[in-house]
Amino acid sequence: MNKAEVVASLLHGRSSKPVVESAQAFAPANIALCKYWGKRDVELNLPVNASLSISLGDLGAHTKVSVIPDDQDKVVLNEKEVGEHTVFAKRVRQFLNLFRTPASRHFGVETTSTIPVGAGLASSASGFCALARALNQLFGWDLPPSTISILARLGSGSAARSCWNGFVEWRLGERNDGMDSQGVPLDLMWPELRIGLWILDTHQKPIGSTEAMQHTVNTSPFYSLWATQQHQDLINLKAALFERDFVRMGEIAESNALAMHALMLSARPAVLYSSPQTVASIQKIWEYRRSGLPVYFTQDAGPNVKLLFLQQDEAAVLEAFPGLCVVNPFAMETSHVS
Ligand code: PMV
Repeated sequence: MNKAEVVASLLHGRSSKPVVESAQAFAPANIALCKYWGKRDVELNLPVNASLSISLGDLGAHTKVSVIPDDQDKVVLNEKEVGEHTVFAKRVRQFLNLFRTPASRHFGVETTSTIPVGAGLASSASGFCALARALNQLFGWDLPPSTISILARLGSGSAARSCWNGFVEWRLGERNDGMDSQGVPLDLMWPELRIGLWILDTHQKPIGSTEAMQHTVNTSPFYSLWATQQHQDLINLKAALFERDFVRMGEIAESNALAMHALMLSARPAVLYSSPQTVASIQKIWEYRRSGLPVYFTQDAGPNVKLLFLQQDEAAVLEAFPGLCVVNPFAMETSHVS
């Protein structure tokens, strides 16, 4: 099946006419504690492994969508129209292609991101999930979140996890059409958990995650080892979460992120997202940990790091790492510390 066939099957019998003039929706960004790095189906963004994330509360994308009378889509990001040749506009347009009935239909999409600029998190995950939710409202489809998760995945894999707050597992699924590869929220709250966004570098990354991921799958001699380890990490991570075992959770999340980056280094040629500041930050985190502060980190396809700690250590963490943006994933308000 290709994307269009998946969408046709999911929307079977549903309206292709807007029921409201415009619709607006929010979706949170998410950070994987057990990473998705590799697709078994590139067209449908089906993963090699299941993954698990924590959503970032009120940090994410607010997206408004409408059908417009123009002869091309209009894409606006943070109040600025985005040029049609940019990667961002192209990805949005490709996603919207799945919903053009009639084929001459064009959309206006306005997205406002509440994620700090350059956090390496303005990722597509919240954007595609918010867009899928907004389209659901625009056309009055009344789709359940699990179906919206599949639609969002067609835009960007990790978007499958942005359809819920809290911890979300993106199930691997077994089917070739991916109808069973979707987000599933974990029935679990951990209100003491904090995420610290540490923005070290706001430059454009040298290679996008989509390209880097496939390059790693195709050229790393260790890829099969990652797939086996990642599977085990996910089992252990879930156990740690249900036991609220912070140290075990932090150890698994940190090792899992480092293994993903090690895997990228083993690709030929290597992919390196860490900057000298990333390495210095990791060493600083380890130093504080050695001195007794329970703080761990994770890192995605960029140089910035995300700290993991508990509420009881927030003051000490902020003193050690001034300027962190602290996220309380289980509250809807984020305190921006600068
Ligand atoms: O969904 P994508 O194609 O942006 O890939 C996300 C990849 C990582 O952020 C590095 C890992 C993850 O699981 O989110």
